[in-house]
Amino acid sequence: MTGTIKACVFDAYGTLFDVGAAARVAASEKGAESWAPKWPQLAADWRRKQLEYTWLRAVAEAHIDFWQVTQDGLDWALEAAGLTDPALRERLLALYWELDAYPEVPQMLATLAQRGQRLAILSNGSPGMLDGAVSSAGLDGQFEALLSVQDVGVFKPHRRVYDLVGRQMGVAPHEVLFVSSNGWDACAGAAYGFVGAWVNRDGAPPDRLHGKPAHELRSLQGLPDLVKSL
Ligand code: LAC
Repeated sequence: MTGTIKACVFDAYGTLFDVGAAARVAASEKGAESWAPKWPQLAADWRRKQLEYTWLRAVAEAHIDFWQVTQDGLDWALEAAGLTDPALRERLLALYWELDAYPEVPQMLATLAQRGQRLAILSNGSPGMLDGAVSSAGLDGQFEALLSVQDVGVFKPHRRVYDLVGRQMGVAPHEVLFVSSNGWDACAGAAYGFVGAWVNRDGAPPDRLHGKPAHELRSLQGLPDLVKSL
């Protein structure tokens, strides 16, 4: 690469992998008719609680595995929806290990890889969860590193998480394009010194936080062109 970007580092959940897919798929399955209309609220509550718990645990210095946080968020969301079937809980959790990648992801990664771009994931997810998601999305071998917060024992947006990139990949922050659909993560990565790309899939207003990502995209489709322009 001749540009300033030496590595593209992606957030996982919501950025590469569709976190709504587990509830959406479960709701489409046989036997789900009674609760199916509730899936969008269930998915939104699950994600919101999962993230809130990561932030609160980071501040409280009460770290646990992201898989436990994911289950805790789901349990809150199921109870809020009045859903008590243990089989549904198990199905939703199983589906979380095989979330769909967003449709533009395989081509986008292939284009960047063909150009020799270094690619990695930086995620709250445990190494096992990240392996599972990458593999079930057919993205095996596309990333040189799956960086997990498990190595630093605190969740995003703690700086120690962003430190993992330089430590494991030997690149300076300004040589990293950090790509996240989570506005708060994109802001914190930019504050850290990464070149930020916020994938604003829903057209949300920008988060008012420390740091402002330099770039905004509506999907990952335009990412190879963005990298080329930097
Ligand atoms: C992650 C969460 C923030 O993958 O989506 O780190």
